[in-house]
Amino acid sequence: MKKNYSLKNVGILGGGQLARMLVMAGHDLGLRMHVLSENEEDPAAQVTRHWYKGSVDNKKDLVSFLNEVNVATFESEFLDAKLLQEVSRQHQFQIFPRPYLMARLQDRLSQKQLLQKHELNSSSFLEWSPSTTWEDLQKLSKKAVVLKARRFGYDGNGTFILRNLKEYENFLAKNQNSPNGFIVEPFVDFKRELSLICARNKMGQFVHYPLAETLQKDARCFWVKGPVKHNLEKSFIKKCERFLHSINYVGVMGIEIFDCGKELLVNELAPRVHNTGHHSLDSMNYDQFTYHLMCLISADLPEPELVAPGFAMVNLLGENNKDPSWEIPEKAQIYWYGKEKNRPGRKMGHINSIANNPKSALSQALKALKEFSL
Ligand SMILES: Nc1ncnc2c1ncn2[C@@H]1O[C@H](COP(=O)(O)OP(=O)(O)O)[C@@H](O)[C@H]1O
Ligand SMILES: [Mg+2]
Repeated sequence: MKKNYSLKNVGILGGGQLARMLVMAGHDLGLRMHVLSENEEDPAAQVTRHWYKGSVDNKKDLVSFLNEVNVATFESEFLDAKLLQEVSRQHQFQIFPRPYLMARLQDRLSQKQLLQKHELNSSSFLEWSPSTTWEDLQKLSKKAVVLKARRFGYDGNGTFILRNLKEYENFLAKNQNSPNGFIVEPFVDFKRELSLICARNKMGQFVHYPLAETLQKDARCFWVKGPVKHNLEKSFIKKCERFLHSINYVGVMGIEIFDCGKELLVNELAPRVHNTGHHSLDSMNYDQFTYHLMCLISADLPEPELVAPGFAMVNLLGENNKDPSWEIPEKAQIYWYGKEKNRPGRKMGHINSIANNPKSALSQALKALKEFSL
């Protein structure tokens, strides 16, 4: 049966590159895309007529923005979740993924507890407090431990790998009074890191992309390639599906995974479109931004299909403060985010490549990267 979707006004809280790619996908679906962000030059503000200046953490700005749209989503899980819960309850705003889930997932401690409750394998952990001793930490691992800020960590910011008492003492000297606290995990000696992008709509339909391998450089995603296989993938993905159903999740979720050979451990969950899913703009019949919007407007989710046997994505990360210069590479698609200023480590864009196998796709993308001075 054909469904008739009336034109919907979709709001995005935040104006960065994820919001920009959501806006662009929304245009193709015939949606009117609204953006709330601080700056007219923000990546997403540049690509819509419906831009609203304001702060995503300001009640007045939020309410007047959300009044303009039928449904809203966010590009970062680090918003004021309490405020979002309050305004969505008071005004019956539709926000997906639901703000109470954002609240659970934006704190690494409650995220870990949620994973544990739903029996999704993840590393062991404990809650850190200023009185935690090195001996306490060593109960998790005799080798290295990883301390992670409970909130606002990204791209390795807020992640500390500690190998001995001296390193722990240095950590304490700098972070003892950190307001949001930390969790502690054992250092996981993984073989490689993987990512699973999945989506679930309000009717409970669940879809996922094939597993992809990701390589981090300085704890920042450098490249992604796929599809990759793992002998545990079927049961792992089934568990993820059950998890999304149990928490009644709506939208795309990015699941970061440690492949330890004999087991797959969830590293962390991102309740949004994810950097490791950008390859889908070229490798899949429907990209992750389109799936996310389909979930928001309660469209049926078509089965994802690869359009090539191999894909790769390489991030274009700033290396200095000069404007990037580049030549159009062969066999790669370029995506610039329209950021005003280049900065070391800043995600300025990405390139995608497809080929007859993952390895060739990656070497094409890395070759294309040589055409860029960042
Ligand atoms: N317990 C761990 N053991 C080994 N490496 C880790 C561990 N936790 C994180 N890392 C490394 O640090 C990177 C960043 O950590 P992550 O928890 O994903 O934080 P974020 O991506 O939010 O900065 C991971 O992709 C991984 O390479
Ligand atoms: Mg991560």
